[in-house]
Amino acid sequence: MKTEKSQTFVNPRILGGNATRTCSIAGVGSYVPDRVLSNIELEKIVDTSDTWITTRTGIKERRMAGPEQYTSDLAAEAARRAMAHAGITPDQIDLIIVATITPDTPFPSTACWLQHKIGAHRAAAFDVEAACSGFLYGLEIGQQFVMTQTYNTVLVIGAEKLSSIIDWKDRNTCVLFGDGAGAVILRNRPQSHGLLTVCMGADGSKTGLLGMPGGGSRCPASHESVDERLHFLRMDGKETFKHAVTAMCNAAREALHRCHIEIGQVACIIPHQANRRIIDAVTERLHARADQVFVNLEKYGNTSAASVAIALDEAVRAGRIHRGDLVLMVAFGAGFTWASAVIEW
Ligand code: COA
Repeated sequence: MKTEKSQTFVNPRILGGNATRTCSIAGVGSYVPDRVLSNIELEKIVDTSDTWITTRTGIKERRMAGPEQYTSDLAAEAARRAMAHAGITPDQIDLIIVATITPDTPFPSTACWLQHKIGAHRAAAFDVEAACSGFLYGLEIGQQFVMTQTYNTVLVIGAEKLSSIIDWKDRNTCVLFGDGAGAVILRNRPQSHGLLTVCMGADGSKTGLLGMPGGGSRCPASHESVDERLHFLRMDGKETFKHAVTAMCNAAREALHRCHIEIGQVACIIPHQANRRIIDAVTERLHARADQVFVNLEKYGNTSAASVAIALDEAVRAGRIHRGDLVLMVAFGAGFTWASAVIEW
């Protein structure tokens, strides 16, 4: 369906003073592992059912990385595809930002593991940890470097091997998550608006509702911590659900407000893919139409930092986003954190 189009939107970055420089997504790519884990298979692992998972979440299946496939491997494949789409080579990348909560190692960063794998030897590299909002946090950080002319070409990736921190004995969480990666190449593109705005927020009073208790300085790994299953993801699903809907709506509204645009002008909305009911509630509260919203969570479940990036890539490849379209992305995750972005594609 054709969306209402107007030229009334503005780029807050440009109004901020730099009239000639913009930051655009020059290429996008994603990768998910081949192995599919269906709801039916999960019925054999925990006390659950395809019907429960489908009606409560919308998820039908998710992808699982192999034992020898790490977060940086998923990220590398997504990065190669984004570079091919942008028509660039690894030596052109100035900076790599990887958003993840499942790094290859606590340190060095996944971005460093990745830098070597893709041969981006000129690039500086670091990780960002903002859980499911991480990709949009990375986008904001990356665009700052492009806008200030510090770097010309920035690779931003959301990548997760969530299967490595899933408690396969906890039916409340193990049915929800999957593995995958999505990547974008950020560059200055003259005569274009590109990334119009990114809004970020956090509420550190809710750290107890979603996270992994073990493995950090609060609770270093020990026999006891392993026995108590503290190195797995834990979540209060009901509370997280409520906060997710409110925070995603507020973040989306703020981004639209900053750009002086209405929801009806947005061609494609890409929400974090955690739960179909969250997406539907956000769609309704924003007074958006269902056909504006891109959803792929039935195939992949919640891939945390990778979710919005994978969905963006699939939306572009499915012909849902065209040059000049306004795209709204919005995410929410552990911390709590949230973020939204508006792009003129
Ligand atoms: N299969 C069958 N039953 C399950 C189950 C499963 N996989 N997981 C939980 N249940 C049971 C619980 O044990 C509980 O049973 P009880 O009432 O007998 O104690 C019941 O289902 C829970 O029902 P309810 O609390 O109504 O579920 P819900 O509608 O809140 O859905 C979630 C649960 C996790 C799907 C939902 O809360 C959610 O999606 N939360 C947000 C998740 C999220 O977005 N996280 C990431 C943010 S980045």
